[in-house]
Amino acid sequence: MSVSESKPGVHADRYAVVGNPVAHSKSPYIHAQFALQTGERVEYDRLLAPLDGFVEHVQAFHAAGGLGLNVTVPFKLEAHALAHKLSPRAAAAGAVNTLRFDADGIFGDNTDGFGLVRDIEVNLGVSLEGARVLLLGAGGAARGVVLPMLERRPREITIVNRTAPKAHALIEQFAGAAGEFGCLLNGGGPGAFDPKSYDVIVNATAGSLDAALPECDERAFGTGTLAYDMMYGAQPTVFMRHAQALGARAADGLGMLVEQAAESFFVWRGVRPEGAPVLAALRAQLAAQAA
Ligand code: ATR
Repeated sequence: MSVSESKPGVHADRYAVVGNPVAHSKSPYIHAQFALQTGERVEYDRLLAPLDGFVEHVQAFHAAGGLGLNVTVPFKLEAHALAHKLSPRAAAAGAVNTLRFDADGIFGDNTDGFGLVRDIEVNLGVSLEGARVLLLGAGGAARGVVLPMLERRPREITIVNRTAPKAHALIEQFAGAAGEFGCLLNGGGPGAFDPKSYDVIVNATAGSLDAALPECDERAFGTGTLAYDMMYGAQPTVFMRHAQALGARAADGLGMLVEQAAESFFVWRGVRPEGAPVLAALRAQLAAQAA
């Protein structure tokens, strides 16, 4: 149910999540909760676009009065190309998860990295300032979180990837920003890090999708480590279980999902909802599924 349906006769502004597939998306639930919480008159739906019809579907939604979209798999690169203006974090990510239709064109933003940082710092209570961070993976998901993490001024970010040249390319892309924020940025292939435990390890590989554990030296995990998997599910991921077995604290990406949505809501409405109660509700729903 969209929020506008619960208030007959009240005009609501229209937003949606566009993807393929999109039926599983939790974004309509999350944004309906944010609308209730903030009193914003927002209606939020799912939009299934055919793989070759992203731009047409976005334009039709806009023409019908839609004000903004969340963009999910596999359209984040097309959304980046479609935007007339990009936020610095979307430009750095090379991908867009939030579109806003402004009078002077389409604004593209990327709130994924902000969502990760906020979940780690606010919901999980781990400060990134001065921290040693290990980022596993060098694909689109990893690229999207580097700049928002650098902005928190960690001491060091080590990017490790199965395919070393992709890690080197990311390190090169963000070398200037790392210098600006006083962060040591290094990494490479699976062996390219200090055999010392990290404060935060983020799994940004696609490995958890097929229950694969990214190659990573066990010495990276310690009792003071937060091991964060950007994926989530009803059960802990294989990466989370591995980290816990090595004594680390583990977290999944459900909070990142909620916090990136909260930031998108802010981009559209200028009002910042509270992520924590919505995260708690989603967590309870997942636990009920797992039982
Ligand atoms: P995404 O947008 O989800 O990041 P992507 O751009 O295809 O998707 O990147 C996938 C990332 O997961 C890459 O870093 C990939 O490693 P490679 O660059 O070596 O391909 C990583 N990845 C996927 N499956 C993996 C696995 N089983 N073990 C380790 N890394 C894996």
